Amino acid sequence: MCGIIGLVSKDEFSVRDELLKCLARLEYRGYDSWGYAAYDGAVVKRVGGIGNNTKGITDMKTTVAISHTRWATHGEVTQSNAHPHSNSKKTIFAVHNGIIINNRQIKERLMKKGYKFVSETDSEIIPHYFDYMLSKGKSMKEAICSFISEIEGTFAIVLFRKGDPHLYAIKRDSPLVLGLYDGKGILASDIYAFSDKTNKAVFFDDDEFAVLGMDSYRFYNKSGKLVRKKVCGFEWSREEEKLKHYKHYMIKEIKEQPSASKRLIDSFSTIQKDRLIRFAKLIRMASRVVFVGAGTSYHASLIGVSLLNKLGIESHTIIASEFESFMLVDDKTLVIAISQSGETMDVVTVIKDVLKKGATVASIVNVPYSTIQRYSKLSIEICAGQEVCVASTKTFTNQLITLFAIAAYLGVKEFDLATIPDKIEKTIKTNEGKVRKLARELYRKKDIFVLGKGVSYPMAREIALKLKEIPYIHAEGMMAGELKHGTIALVEKGTPVISLIPNENVDMLSSTREVEARGARSIIISNTDGELHIPKSGDAEFAIYSGIIGHLLSYYIARLKNLPIDKPRNLAKSVTVR
Ligand code: G6P
Repeated sequence: MCGIIGLVSKDEFSVRDELLKCLARLEYRGYDSWGYAAYDGAVVKRVGGIGNNTKGITDMKTTVAISHTRWATHGEVTQSNAHPHSNSKKTIFAVHNGIIINNRQIKERLMKKGYKFVSETDSEIIPHYFDYMLSKGKSMKEAICSFISEIEGTFAIVLFRKGDPHLYAIKRDSPLVLGLYDGKGILASDIYAFSDKTNKAVFFDDDEFAVLGMDSYRFYNKSGKLVRKKVCGFEWSREEEKLKHYKHYMIKEIKEQPSASKRLIDSFSTIQKDRLIRFAKLIRMASRVVFVGAGTSYHASLIGVSLLNKLGIESHTIIASEFESFMLVDDKTLVIAISQSGETMDVVTVIKDVLKKGATVASIVNVPYSTIQRYSKLSIEICAGQEVCVASTKTFTNQLITLFAIAAYLGVKEFDLATIPDKIEKTIKTNEGKVRKLARELYRKKDIFVLGKGVSYPMAREIALKLKEIPYIHAEGMMAGELKHGTIALVEKGTPVISLIPNENVDMLSSTREVEARGARSIIISNTDGELHIPKSGDAEFAIYSGIIGHLLSYYIARLKNLPIDKPRNLAKSVTVR
């Protein structure tokens, strides 16, 4: 949700080849508009994604610059709402990720002092605020301390003053990290922005700020006191980042699953063995387990619940944004957060809240050192490598495998993890052609229903979510048993209904017959028989292979509709606002 970059170096760097290349790596965080500002005050802003949109931009060399890729929250997608924002004199430039809650009050106050605003964003108050504070004789450090104490809301901000060879960075809740390489300091929303250049990073804590010079950096707390920070070396399994022969990252990432899953499974007997054992112990020690997640990660958590319940361990899950109203925790509760990015604000908010209530937090994340991981007592990494497509595919599969590994350690006997990568490969090979054919039949449909039961229920929801996100088809993923309590009224001749039938589940078979009796176009995904056939597996494992088919189906329908598959409209991969 918005990506920001700040770069400062003693040697000049190219805005196009360095700054904007790093920014492009953050585009999955938002692609409504982008822009940059450089040391001498040059500003460029464009609506749309960076993609080929840098054409016509004369490259420039500079030593200090900031840039931003936007996912709109306040104000429409226009050039004037694009970041960076500046004061009227064009001497202070800022990029911001987050939401400033008291922006109206601050704006009114500044307007009374004569400040003029040209955008509808909350972020525009930042350069004006600093202009005002500096005009009152405050130093930049003092102005930042006032800003932190006065501003309500969330922010990762990078700003600079024309002619001042420093970058100033401030953070609360929204992610911000400093990467160090070749005498350069790069501030970014996440490590992927610079993971091709360095694995050395310093992570900001909330209400901290940093001042970066040409060859130095210092961190301060909200009172302006110097803070000693640790330089962390992070591991980030790198897949080949170029698309190569693939048309989209989505299909590339679907096809990376045999290797990504194998990497994860291997880690459970090597580098993550100890974490797995300790994770299982935490579960055993808790009086109850509560999962939390959003989007696809929530679907993974439903499968986690069903696995733990099988073992007699009381467990629940709830979508992060509704946690507060529908879930109780105490100091004996173990809260397990599942998140690809480790940054989803709805989940981070829950974690902060349950920690205050004394609960223990553990997590399953993809991105090392992410906020959620840093708040967790223990965290397992799903080792999926970077996922560029907004829709989660390989990361979802690896979340499920992680849950299987934990469940297996706790005593669930139904899987042989080592066979999963081959079965994934087989699922893709045997079904890709059939799915492409089916996509041609379905791509003009307005509604699709997906039915599941037990562990296949979360998969029905996951497949429906993908059908909405990628080919923009209205889809409903539901508990098959609920069909007859309402939704069946919508089934008529030709309505596509996908049934997920593991191991001849009798209830699923009867729901399927019910829709077929009403003329539905019934599509069966099964591990025994069916139009789309997946390898023999227990019910839980069925989730992985049926998910892959659902993901392929969304992909091929979207291709026929010529849609922007990797960057679907209005979405972002890392949702760092509530
Ligand atoms: C966004 C993404 C989804 C993702 C969800 C949760 O909505 O578009 O693909 O499932 O966030 O993200 P997380 O990083 O917490 O797994």
